[in-house]
Amino acid sequence: MNRPRVPAAGIQWAALAGAIGLAATATALERDPLPPRVPIGKLADAKKTTNPIAATPEANARGTALFEGKGTWVKCHGLSGSGNGSFGKNLKPSPRNLTNAEWQKSRTDGELFWVIKYGSPATGMVSLIPSDIDVNEAWHIVRYLRTLEGP
Ligand code: HEM
Repeated sequence: MNRPRVPAAGIQWAALAGAIGLAATATALERDPLPPRVPIGKLADAKKTTNPIAATPEANARGTALFEGKGTWVKCHGLSGSGNGSFGKNLKPSPRNLTNAEWQKSRTDGELFWVIKYGSPATGMVSLIPSDIDVNEAWHIVRYLRTLEGP
């Protein structure tokens, strides 16, 4: 049986959390999700980078399996993607609510990919490529993230 593994990046984010005192209270809040997380000098390029993986049921299924199975990422973002995973509850800022429709519309696929690749500075969201996933897997996950958009 496959056992869930702690992603390699887990060591980084656990250290980061300790280092900057992110072990927080159960009332941790998500930062304003709308301002871009990609640095201004990189934003134009990130915005226009498109997803090379077509939106097919197979691609979505692969992205889902990666998100839920390959790492322990649901511990942060939660199985529903709403940001309330068991570990995520104790992070400050909280993991993004990936189902937030307003936030989803504010981001291009390229911006989502950028954060998965480079992380969001001074948060628990660290770089996941190449430590945990490769580029192709990340684009599949971006496909999956797009299926989470709420009303
Ligand atoms: C495959 C795994 C993961 C994916 C695909 C993912 C994806 C994302 C995305 C797309 C964002 C939003 C970035 C934006 O607003 O532009 C985000 C934010 C965030 N994630 Fe993750 N994440 C993953 C794993 C994790 C893990 C393991 C943690 C916890 C240690 C985490 C903690 C956070 C936090 C705290 C934020 C908010 C950052 C901010 O406010 O700037 N994520 N994540």
